[in-house]
Amino acid sequence: DMQTSSRKLDHLQICCNKQVEAGRAGFEDVRLAHAALPELDLNGIRLQTHFLGAELGSPLFIAAMTGGHPATTEVNQRLARVAEKFRLGMGVGSQRAALEHPELEESFTVVRDEAPHAFLCANLGAVQLRDHGAEWAERAVEMIEADALCIHLNFLQEATQPEGDHDARGCLAAIADLCRDFKTPVIIKETGAGISAETARLIWGAGAAAIDLGGAGGTSWAAVEVERTGGDEALKALGQCFLGWGIPTVVSLCEVAGSGPVIATGGVRNGIDIARAIALGADLGGMALPLLRPAMESEEALEQTVRAFLRELRVAMFLTGSGSVRDLAHARTYITGATRQMLGK
Ligand code: FNR
Repeated sequence: DMQTSSRKLDHLQICCNKQVEAGRAGFEDVRLAHAALPELDLNGIRLQTHFLGAELGSPLFIAAMTGGHPATTEVNQRLARVAEKFRLGMGVGSQRAALEHPELEESFTVVRDEAPHAFLCANLGAVQLRDHGAEWAERAVEMIEADALCIHLNFLQEATQPEGDHDARGCLAAIADLCRDFKTPVIIKETGAGISAETARLIWGAGAAAIDLGGAGGTSWAAVEVERTGGDEALKALGQCFLGWGIPTVVSLCEVAGSGPVIATGGVRNGIDIARAIALGADLGGMALPLLRPAMESEEALEQTVRAFLRELRVAMFLTGSGSVRDLAHARTYITGATRQMLGK
């Protein structure tokens, strides 16, 4: 059956047309210390950075979104072109549908075709990894000649969707088995509920190369699934109950920062948020939803959006006296409000 494939299209359309954001990621609680005397040339600021050995044009990462349905090919093509043009790292959406139905591969292979030099991340769910093992992981990487493999954790979504996998046992062991002798770096990513300090320890212990926090406060998969419940009122109520679930991205970042390479995703909504994330210890700032609507519109719209975010990042770097991403990592922050309370300081 093509259930996985049609679900991918549902998700794209719901995320584009409905209110799927819930809660706060905490970026509004983070203020960067202003440098009134930056002693820099705004136009000379370097956005380039490194991640897992790759050279990237900037720390803006295009988070996993799509592929797996013929109608998603064009969106992935636009995302890939912009990734190539700006030398951005990019993740593709879950490749499960194409692994089950190879005729759907084109919606993913288009990404490598359009972005021959980009740092690309393949994507597979932890449940699929557990059930199909390293063979699927290898096929996912080969499909797009990926530079890294993201294994996503999405048990909030699984628990609130009608066709979800409700048995999470064995995923950590599957991840550890994979990391033991897989040649491609493995990134473990959440998808909107965040990674705690305790979970991060399990993930590093399993041998992962990096963590993508996928914190709460941006796209909420409970909210997405609420839109897909059809007439099932009980399932809808369940999803609504969990709209605010999860560790806000900024809190998750403060718990995980310094323990290994980190991508901060979830509610990153502008260039200042990317700067805030880096100042708090992230290596990259990931965005999904803010890039989706422009990517569904046109390549020009997407390019304009990315340019605006990079300009905001550049100005934030200028105003913190940071000539490079490495300097920005040392910028001082003030943390206020609920974020400060959750961090207990
Ligand atoms: C996603 N995300 C996602 N993640 C993943 O690992 N595999 C996937 O297939 C998808 N699919 C997907 C589709 C759409 C339409 C969206 C908006 C998102 C999750 C995404 O990578 C990210 O972790 C969250 O969306 C949080 O970031 P934002 O949207 O708040 O910037």
